[in-house]
Amino acid sequence: MQLKGKHILLGITGSIAAYKAALLTRLLVKEGAEVKVIMTSSARQFITPLTMATLSRNPILVEFFDPENGQWNSHVSLGLWADLYLIAPASANTISKMAYGIADNLLLTTYLSARCPVMVAPAMDLDMYAHPATQQSMKVLRERGVRIVEAASGELASGLDGKGRMEEPEKIAAEVMSLLRKPGTLTGRRALVTSGPTREAIDPVRFISNHSSGKMASAIADELARRGAAVTVVSGPASVYPSCPGVEVRKVISAGEMYEATVEEYGKGCDITVLCAAVADFTPACPSGTKIKKDGNRMTMELVPTKDIAAAIGAHRRREGVIAGFALETDHARENALSKLSRKNMDMIVLNSMQDPGAGFGVDTNKVTIFRRDGSFQDVPLESKPEVASAIVDNIEQLLGGSEGC
Ligand code: PMT
Repeated sequence: MQLKGKHILLGITGSIAAYKAALLTRLLVKEGAEVKVIMTSSARQFITPLTMATLSRNPILVEFFDPENGQWNSHVSLGLWADLYLIAPASANTISKMAYGIADNLLLTTYLSARCPVMVAPAMDLDMYAHPATQQSMKVLRERGVRIVEAASGELASGLDGKGRMEEPEKIAAEVMSLLRKPGTLTGRRALVTSGPTREAIDPVRFISNHSSGKMASAIADELARRGAAVTVVSGPASVYPSCPGVEVRKVISAGEMYEATVEEYGKGCDITVLCAAVADFTPACPSGTKIKKDGNRMTMELVPTKDIAAAIGAHRRREGVIAGFALETDHARENALSKLSRKNMDMIVLNSMQDPGAGFGVDTNKVTIFRRDGSFQDVPLESKPEVASAIVDNIEQLLGGSEGC
């Protein structure tokens, strides 16, 4: 009964995969969840409200009010009631409306009112799934913290073969359990996460930087916060920031500023420190105070090393608490990562290789190996960054097991 006492709002949209919502509901109820179902009017063409009402043991909600007795179905109170809003199957139409804040039915208005985590399991034909409009909408939702259960590949209702099938109910139920069963395990812990790129000024209009978006670090910060930790993020100029309420974000620009802010935050006492930022290793020795003009000649710029934040924290670390670093490598990945783990005196290091498609900078997915100081390691296959974050935080929790809070 992993979902005992949990309130799950299940949104069903018009898709042939709606039949799978019946089994999904049974699985959630079997695990102890209370399930309320909202259907769009087209969803009723694919599965009957009677089936869903019987399996969920609750009346089905479709309209803003019940035409029979005038009872008002408040999207606001539904959004507040839920511990999770799961939309499965989610059609291309609904996903795009969610991305743009269109609220022309009960399912969508409730999405805009929901304060709980939201999970979406898309279902559609392969070309609709691959269409830039759908992909862009899913990207917008991901950046807002919505958990997307990637569609599976296989035979589709159209007879075509490809990616677009709604993931199987067992897999979706497992994701729901992993999302909902963890809150609270890090209550009372303080966590510090570094995120994003840094910018090293060359002159007032130019800088040296890198492609870090802040997605990986934000997913980790959100996961730590969801499990109850008080989280502070020191972030360079990223394109994505944590979405979990309560996560404190300290914005910095340069490696020097990130060093000062991170060392100061660590000094306040941290149980968990995750150094995920892509910090510049070099900075211009003498940035120009005015815009450097081109004169047709080559230009040489002297760079000096920045201070290594991870090494400084590792050198002055408290005995208790967990320090996790990252290593982004192009070659000799394992040796380099293990060397950083020991040189920087960390407890674990997360290696992502630039050789792996779909991993590293900017993308929504990552593929990593987590090395621990005791020699053990875990390969995490290509998954969404929130799922990789969950695996990283699981490792942190295991290492914290024997460690006292500060
Ligand atoms: O932000 P995304 O687009 O989601 O991409 C995620 C990511 C690829 C940036 C992330 O997963 C990642 O790999 N971050 C670390 C990138 C990096 O700088 O690796 P590194 O091998 O150069 O550094 C090793 C470790 O030392 C890192 O923990 C780094 O934060 C730290 N470091 C490096 C230099 C420095 N001056 N201070 C540091 O603390």
